[in-house]
Formats: sequence, structure tokens, C-alpha cells
Amino acid sequence: MLWIKAFHIIFVVSWFAGLFYLPRIFVNLAMVPADSGAERARLLLMAKKLFRFITPLGVLAIGLGLWLWFGFGFTGGWLHAKTALVIGLAAYHVWCGMLLAEFASGRSTRTHVWFRFFNEVPVLALTIICILVVVKPF
Ligand code: HEM
Repeated sequence: MLWIKAFHIIFVVSWFAGLFYLPRIFVNLAMVPADSGAERARLLLMAKKLFRFITPLGVLAIGLGLWLWFGFGFTGGWLHAKTALVIGLAAYHVWCGMLLAEFASGRSTRTHVWFRFFNEVPVLALTIICILVVVKPF
């Protein structure tokens, strides 16, 4: 069980590295002047590669979490609350993919300020999830 939990945490950390950095690229993309095609293309390429890289990491993090849950009999309100937050994170990940598609097609209209707030969502989720799984308050 400990090997599974170790790899669960490894993939969680790797997934979150991307969930923290991808919206930061969006902040920069939203600030690129219209005549800076080269900078926009460079940032778009970075975002596309990062999104493709972190998607399997997220799937593995969640898959190993479910293995821990159903394979080792964990129970408790903390696990249900954690899973609800993780479903929210998975939706956030998919939303990042849709926002990336908007940037790629030139349809993105949101400001860099909006993306700065958007960037804080994974920070808040990580904080609550780690308290739930380590402290198990309920
Ligand atoms: C549906 C997805 C997930 C499920 C079902 C799940 C389930 C679990 C379970 C059953 C454990 C073992 C708890 C223990 O040993 O006390 C665990 C450990 C852990 N999970 Fe998840 N997890 C999921 C996703 C995540 C995510 C997204 C994060 C990160 C924010 C995360 C962070 C952790 C951490 C840090 C531990 C180690 C806790 C400890 O050793 O005390 N998990 N997870």
C-alpha cells in the first residue's frame, strides 16, 4: 500500500506543477501585444506541450488514489469531501484545455487579471485537500 501511496503523491505533485504553471502561461498570453506573433506562438507551444504532458499525470494521480480508496478499505467523510474537490480539479483541468483552444483560435477575450484569479484555484484546492487527507477532520 505504501508503494501505491508513494506514487500517488509523486503523480499528484507532478500534476499540480502543471496546474500551477499552465494558468501562469495564460496570464502571459493574455498580456501579449497583438503585433507580437512570435512571442504568442512560443507561449502557445509551451502551453500545448504542458497540457499534453500533465493530462496523463492527472489520470495516474486520480487512478492511484481510487486504488488506495477501493483497494485498502479507506472510508470517512474526509475521503468524500476530498473526492468532490478532486472532481472539481479534473473539471478545472478540462477547462484549461478549453481556454487553451480559445487562445489557439484567437477567440480568447479574458483579461490577464481574470487569469491571475483563475491561477489561485489549484492553490486553494491543494491546501484543503492536504488538510482533509492528513488531518482527516471528519
Ligand atoms: C479521486 C482522487 C483521489 C482519491 C480517491 C484519493 C485517495 C487517497 C487515499 C485513500 C489516501 C491514503 C490516505 C492515508 O493513508 O491516510 C491518499 C493519500 C494522499 N492523497 Fe489522495 N486521493 C485522490 C487524489 C488526490 C489529490 C488530487 C491530491 C492532492 C491534492 C491527493 C493528496 C494525497 C496526499 C498528500 C496523500 C498522503 C496522505 C498521508 O500519507 O497522510 N490525493 N489519497
